[in-house]
Amino acid sequence: MDIKKVGIIGTGTMGVGMAQVCAQAGIPTVAVKATPGTPERAQAGLEKSLARMVERGKMEAAEKDAIVGRIAFTTDEGAVADCDLVIESIIEDLDTKKALFKRLEGVCTPDALLTTNTSTLSVTSMMAVCEHRQRVAGLHFFNPAPAMALVEIIHAFETSESTVRALEAFCKEIGKDPVIVQDTTGFIVNRLLTPYLLSAVRLLERGTGDIEGIDHAMMSGAGHPMGPFALADYIGLDVVNAMAQNIYNDARTDHHNPPHTLTRLVELGYLGRKTGKGFYDYSSKPPTANPALKHPIS
Ligand SMILES: NC(=O)c1ccc[n+]([C@@H]2O[C@H](COP(=O)([O-])OP(=O)(O)OC[C@H]3O[C@@H](n4cnc5c(N)ncnc54)[C@H](O)[C@@H]3O)[C@@H](O)[C@H]2O)c1
Repeated sequence: MDIKKVGIIGTGTMGVGMAQVCAQAGIPTVAVKATPGTPERAQAGLEKSLARMVERGKMEAAEKDAIVGRIAFTTDEGAVADCDLVIESIIEDLDTKKALFKRLEGVCTPDALLTTNTSTLSVTSMMAVCEHRQRVAGLHFFNPAPAMALVEIIHAFETSESTVRALEAFCKEIGKDPVIVQDTTGFIVNRLLTPYLLSAVRLLERGTGDIEGIDHAMMSGAGHPMGPFALADYIGLDVVNAMAQNIYNDARTDHHNPPHTLTRLVELGYLGRKTGKGFYDYSSKPPTANPALKHPIS
């Protein structure tokens, strides 16, 4: 199956990033803002980040214009009717995603591929509300989508082999490196990464080491480009906490149960880099450990 046009629902971080990737590969793309309001902010955000790449000499101005020109930003879900592939990337909430899949079946042709970019929810549960289930799958990009090579293709219960093959070919066409995964909560990367990040928090709670010490040890001793606390702050502590909670709710594996320190930081609004404080305080350069964590909260 040839994918000539892609529809993306949700114009947040991942939606815009994936739209850029598709348009950069020359594929006309529709990006639908899924909540009230205009999509202008998302479009302006993309244009600004591409303009920065042009300034730094990493992209030609003509390429920037071509990418922007291939993406139609809209608020009309019906605009994906002639898309061969739809990727939903709205809020990580199962009921909201299921309702969207149900609506998409009414909008798209029966052989259009319907996919979700969910990080931790069951693709099979979304498939369950659909009539034409063979074309439903997961297409899990990583953040930032333009830079990260991996895409996990999620093979849910009734996903057909031809759907998986078409998605594999699509990923390669847009320059990504796909891996096929059976529908297990958290898939491969988040299923393995989450307990690692949570274990670092548990070591902190036990007093085994401090934030800087644990990060330093994993960089220097295990060859990781960032330590677990810097990585958690980069991903966003709300995202890590929700990811852990969703996997724990589904799999009941103790090592996915979020520790108190993480949950409390989220409650306090310390979400990592995006709020200026998480495990680290980013107001100082280089960042220093968040003083609130001098006395671990657990
Ligand atoms: N951020 C990541 O690192 C990452 C990586 C891979 C996959 N994902 C997944 O991608 C999806 C989107 O995440 P994101 O990081 O782009 O989030 P985001 O917060 O940047 O964007 C979320 C989008 O959902 C929309 N939205 C909010 N409430 C809604 C509602 N009630 N109904 C419909 N739409 C609503 C918002 O308008 C926004 O466009 C999620 O399923 C997430 O799990 C995120």
